[in-house]
Order: sequence, then structure tokens, then C-alpha cells
Amino acid sequence: MDALTLLHQRSSIGKLAGPAPSREQLDGLYRAALRAPDHKGLTPWRFIEFSGAGIDRLGELFAEAEYQANPHIDDATLDAVRKKPKRAPLIIAVIAKVTPDQPKVPPVEQVLSAGCAAHAILLAAQAMGLGAMWRTGSFAFDRTVRRGLGLGEHDELVGFLYLGQPGGRLPTPPRRDPADFVERWD
Ligand SMILES: Cc1cc2nc3c(=O)[nH]c(=O)nc-3n(C[C@H](O)[C@H](O)[C@H](O)COP(=O)(O)O)c2cc1C
Repeated sequence: MDALTLLHQRSSIGKLAGPAPSREQLDGLYRAALRAPDHKGLTPWRFIEFSGAGIDRLGELFAEAEYQANPHIDDATLDAVRKKPKRAPLIIAVIAKVTPDQPKVPPVEQVLSAGCAAHAILLAAQAMGLGAMWRTGSFAFDRTVRRGLGLGEHDELVGFLYLGQPGGRLPTPPRRDPADFVERWD
């Protein structure tokens, strides 16, 4: 698939099956991420990869966060929360490692750079025939989850990228007309 077709056709898929991306594929995904635009070369990126028992540990962290937020939660709901990361054989958490007080690179630029890294991973995954879905839910912003993943005070958890083999045909992207979004100053 050529680059423009990939950019025009990228599509998320929530239904993901094993096997997880291979080490070689993961290396290609990270190399794509590391080409994200990066003002002043701060490399404000950190990735945590979850698979196997790591997926279970992430589920426990989500359950702990949910329990802290809602101590009266019933067991069945808590169990459903615990299972959320099992929707994919592999998850990459993309974190913006934000350096505050950078006069020319405010935090928003560093977070945007990490967002570009996440997008690059989605695109590279599709190019490899993998399926992917970017999720945040409430847990990306949760204090317990942030602490559990070792985020610094200024860091942002940009998203959890769920990755695996597509469990069906990729959805057809919506048709959008650039004219609806573009203003011209000629
Ligand atoms: C920062 C960010 C967070 C997102 N979080 C979620 C989420 O928690 N749950 C969800 O169903 N979709 C989430 N999405 C949207 C999906 O990843 C996806 O973009 C959407 O379903 C539209 O599909 P498409 O990417 O094929 O256009 C998020 C997207 C972004 C950019």
C-alpha cells in the first residue's frame, strides 16, 4: 500500500485477536513513532508495552483505580473493568514525558509530539496488516493509574494503543470532504 492510500484509509478496529505483533513488527512500530515531529529534539516519548501477564497487571491497576474512585462498586462490574485490557493481545501505553519550563517548547507541543508518535504507530500497524485502536477511557487520566505507571507530575498518558490481528475487515472510513474543514486565505 502506498503512503497516501494508507493515510487516506487508516481505520481503527476494536476487535483484535492474537497473536500479538512480533518483536520485529514492534521494532518497526517504535521506529515509526520515533520519527514523530519533535521541536528542539526533546524526544518527549515513553512507551510501556503490555502483553501476557503484563496485560493482567494492567487490568489489576484499572480495577484498583476503579475501586478507589468507587468503593461501593459490585464485584461483577469490577471484574469487567479488570478484563478491559484483555481486548487485545498487546497494548502500548504512549506517554508524553513533559519537560516543563521549556521556553520554546510548551507542554502542549510535547504532548502533541507524543500524539503524533501514537498516530505513527497506528499507521505503521495498518501497513503491517495489524489491527489497532487508540483508547483512553477514564483511566488515562486517573491518579492511581498514573502513579502505577510511574508518570511524572507533568507527564500525560496520551493513550493506550490496543494492537493485534484484525478480527474482521477493517471498517470503511467515513467519507469527508476537505471543503467542509478548510478555509482559504488567497
Ligand atoms: C486521544 C484519543 C482517545 C480515544 N479514546 C477512545 C476510547 O477510550 N474509546 C473508544 O472507543 N475510542 C476512543 N478513541 C477513538 C478511536 O480510537 C477511533 O479513532 C474512533 O473509533 C474512530 O475510528 P477511526 O480511527 O477508524 O476513524 C480515541 C481517540 C483518540 C484520538
